[in-house]
Amino acid sequence: MNVVVGISGGIAAYKAVNVVRALVLEGHDVHVIATDAALRFVGKPTLEAISRNPVNSDLYEGVAQVRHVSIGQAADLIIIAPATANTLAKLAHGLADDLLGNTVLASTAPVVVAPAMHTEMWGNQATRANVALLRSRGITIVGPASGRLTGEDVGAGRMSEPDDIVRAALAVVGGAGPDDAAAPAPASGSAAPDSADPGSADPGSGDLAGLRVLISAGGTREPLDPVRFLGNRSSGRQGVALAAAALERGASVTLLAAHLEVPVPEGVSVVHVQTAAELEEAARVHAQRADLVIMAAAVADYRPAAVAEQKIKKETAGDRVTLELVRNPDILAGLAVERRDGQVVVGFAAETAADEDELVRVGRAKLERKGCDYLVLNRVGWSLGFAAEDNAVVVVQRGGDIVMEASGSKATVAHRILDAVHPALLPRA
Ligand code: CTP
Repeated sequence: MNVVVGISGGIAAYKAVNVVRALVLEGHDVHVIATDAALRFVGKPTLEAISRNPVNSDLYEGVAQVRHVSIGQAADLIIIAPATANTLAKLAHGLADDLLGNTVLASTAPVVVAPAMHTEMWGNQATRANVALLRSRGITIVGPASGRLTGEDVGAGRMSEPDDIVRAALAVVGGAGPDDAAAPAPASGSAAPDSADPGSADPGSGDLAGLRVLISAGGTREPLDPVRFLGNRSSGRQGVALAAAALERGASVTLLAAHLEVPVPEGVSVVHVQTAAELEEAARVHAQRADLVIMAAAVADYRPAAVAEQKIKKETAGDRVTLELVRNPDILAGLAVERRDGQVVVGFAAETAADEDELVRVGRAKLERKGCDYLVLNRVGWSLGFAAEDNAVVVVQRGGDIVMEASGSKATVAHRILDAVHPALLPRA
């Protein structure tokens, strides 16, 4: 397979040598594009010796061969490691002021990016937005991991290990071996398959590595009798997509699963619940150890005042039945009150609002009432939301500011939600 390895200018550039080496050892034809800044950190002769090909860096060299497009056109896979904050920004905005930028724009190959930078730069809103944009275009982000950075600093931002980057990148092209040049691969402009995301290759790395995430999903069911219940139309898709996304990003994930219509990804630990009361009990227990709690479940606000021991029969119930319902506790509000220092609590609100203005107005008031850190708002209706594959959300934070708006597949939206709440988690990441 023809693999282009782009190296940008960060100290982790020295580790990129091992990315190149691992690919060569697997039999791939590796072409390195190093930015000028990268060559300040690692020498061209080293990269040429290891890649066994000339190293490209100058946009104006070999112009007769139209290299600014030919390298990208020939590539089956592009890996950029390390990707600095600057490179991420350039990729996100399609800048082409160097050979790497041109190559990415001229290519339809999948792009895998391994960011490396200081924690503050990784957590900066500009970087978060750029990463979210890249993800939404199907570009795979591997890591970064948490650990020792340059100097004495420790935190999120360390480039993932070379072997992990190579493993994740090859997974994107379907585990292509050296002879699988034409292996089917998603183009960088289309959404990569969920399973190809980096964290699934290594749950120990990613920007949520080391964090415990608790997510509730699906619709609760409140029994009326042994065979009937009061339920709702939640499919659990968005909550399960959040669990998958958090897992991919390195978190250890517990899912409190009310009624779901979709399977739970392997690696997520699942606690099955039925009613709001069971969910409350499980949430209380598991929230104690969680760094991030996301209540995506559609919880019944009311339950039948009495549950019939036997099936309710028409002969005894008659022509008209009146159900008496009692209020369920507000689990989210309870978790927000009891949250420990530094824990981030996120709620959802599905509203039948006429438009986005009304949605945000209702959402702000609900956020205030619930006392959580963020509220994810979406519009629902008879033909909107629920079982749909796609979703459109607005995220408001405490104080009422809108911090993110996103639409797309529930997997894309899940990553955007995690991007939006990530800054609040950063000090412990
Ligand atoms: N929620 C909860 N416990 C409940 C009801 C809801 O924890 N008894 C959580 C949901 O998981 C969600 C958020 O609260 O994260 C908002 O749910 P929603 O049903 O929109 O809120 P309600 O308080 O029920 O408001 P409304 O009166 O508009 O239904």
